[in-house]
Amino acid sequence: MWWLRLKGKHVCPVERAGTLDSRIRRLVQNPYKILKPYIKKNMTVLDIGCGPGFFSIDMAKIVGSSGRVIAADLQYGMLEKIKNKIKGTKFQERIILHKCEKDKIGVTKKVDFVLLFYMVHEVPDIELLFKEIGTILKPKGQVFIAEPLFHVSKQVFENNIKKACNKGLKIVQRPRIFFSKTAVLEKT
Ligand SMILES: C[S@@+](CC[C@H](N)C(=O)[O-])C[C@H]1O[C@@H](n2cnc3c(N)ncnc32)[C@H](O)[C@@H]1O
Repeated sequence: MWWLRLKGKHVCPVERAGTLDSRIRRLVQNPYKILKPYIKKNMTVLDIGCGPGFFSIDMAKIVGSSGRVIAADLQYGMLEKIKNKIKGTKFQERIILHKCEKDKIGVTKKVDFVLLFYMVHEVPDIELLFKEIGTILKPKGQVFIAEPLFHVSKQVFENNIKKACNKGLKIVQRPRIFFSKTAVLEKT
């Protein structure tokens, strides 16, 4: 079974981590190239729904040794995948693993940037998600949202962006990413 049901929403199972973290994906969705325009050295950044860390590790490369990446996920199994990947590397210092609850991110540190890549459609209460992000994000901090092109309709995607805007975020960019609907928002 590809998907697990968690109170009505599908959550990508740990068994699918390999497809999220593949070389083929890297060819069409290069994490470094996608995120470099938004993340700077020394930043503290948050990857919510990080999965096996396809983006988290490149985020750690960009923030450098004085920056921090909080890699947050609902599933211990996903966090375990990242933990094993960074064990004994320079990224161990830079990446903080964080276990979220279904309706609570629970990060107390203020961050400069939040990544929500292919995860918003799995969250039970999207308004609550953006409300909490508003409290975690520093002023002028940015949120990068990407959802799978066909899995999430234009209407649902735009409706979710509206929910984010109602929580104090404004759209600043629509980057083009293969197979995705996207928006970059900024805290007003
Ligand atoms: C499709 S995967 C995407 C993983 C990663 N962002 C990527 O693009 O490779 C979605 C991830 O979001 C996580 N997730 C789902 N609901 C969540 C929630 N409410 N809070 C935190 N993580 C969640 C899942 O456990 C899963 O690892």
